[in-house]
Amino acid sequence: MSFDPSAEPLPLALGCMYFGSRLPRAEAFALLDRFADAGGTLLDTADCYAFWEPGCGGGESESCIGEWLGSRGKRQAARVCTKVGAMPGPDGVREGLSGVTVSRAVEGSLRRLGVERIDLCYAHVDDREVPLQETLSAFARLIEEGKLRAVACSNTSAGRIREALALSAREALPAWCAVQQMYTYLQPLPGTVFLGGAQLFADAGLLQLCRETEGLRLLAYSPLLGGAYDREDKPIPEPFLHPANQQRLQLLQQLARERDCRPGQLVLAWMIHRSPSVIPVAGASTSGQLEANLAAARMTLSPEEMRRLDAISGP
Ligand SMILES: NC(=O)c1ccc[n+]([C@@H]2O[C@H](COP(=O)([O-])OP(=O)(O)OC[C@H]3O[C@@H](n4cnc5c(N)ncnc54)[C@H](OP(=O)(O)O)[C@@H]3O)[C@@H](O)[C@H]2O)c1
Repeated sequence: MSFDPSAEPLPLALGCMYFGSRLPRAEAFALLDRFADAGGTLLDTADCYAFWEPGCGGGESESCIGEWLGSRGKRQAARVCTKVGAMPGPDGVREGLSGVTVSRAVEGSLRRLGVERIDLCYAHVDDREVPLQETLSAFARLIEEGKLRAVACSNTSAGRIREALALSAREALPAWCAVQQMYTYLQPLPGTVFLGGAQLFADAGLLQLCRETEGLRLLAYSPLLGGAYDREDKPIPEPFLHPANQQRLQLLQQLARERDCRPGQLVLAWMIHRSPSVIPVAGASTSGQLEANLAAARMTLSPEEMRRLDAISGP
């Protein structure tokens, strides 16, 4: 594997989706500074963040990170992880993963990030219209040119990842070294479709694939459900409102009282400690939130605490 996110000093990626858009640059810089000072290296962004915010067209997050890297000289330690393929084209449809699109998108990301090489580039959303061979060949050329260090996928089913890994092995193409999926302690109602199918929750099949595949790491986005574990102003999202999750929430609250921590911190610590180990990609918009998440990444859970959490966790 040319890049192993789990070998980084801190098992937590900073979700930078709203940096430079909803979160003003100075505040984003302060969070990036604190994350780096605390030993954090994994910065998560995408070329399309955050095109849906008022006055934005995508690229704001990458530009913000690029300016921070340039101004702070922190390039050495930072691992810049971005994604391509989900920017809407002129017709409003995701531009997808054709070879031409991937190559053009990566050039744009390099420019905005102000780096010569991206550490990890994800195919943001699976694109079944384009042969995997075409996407992987484009990524192969970018790796050969030194523009990417490693490639990964996001929002891709276990079956499609198996297909891609087999193709990579057969044709000496670069292999996905990681997958980034939605994942948290609560489970969505079976059959839930997120964002018209563009977002996938990590299911039992994907967890099993990561467990059995050396060199395929799992990263979890929206691990805190936007803060819903800890905050009354953030309700638990509708697809997560069902009786099995009530039990899970009660256990988190009970354990949080016992440990004098917050339920959201237990969620992050639990995923880091489980098998396969999952790296949370957690967003933050205040220093207090970031401190809580950094502390969670350093928490140790006892075998008994893990047993209690695992007993009702779902896959
Ligand atoms: N691959 C993909 O398709 C995909 C999709 C979505 C996201 N992502 C990545 O994953 C990252 C995180 O995703 P996300 O923002 O959806 O999920 P999240 O990490 O579950 O939620 C982040 C939000 O939760 C609140 N929060 C964070 N820490 C908190 C704490 N300790 N206590 C209380 N509230 C806290 C903040 O909300 P407020 O800002 O409202 O206070 C923060 O903005 C993104 O930045 C992005 O990099 C990837």
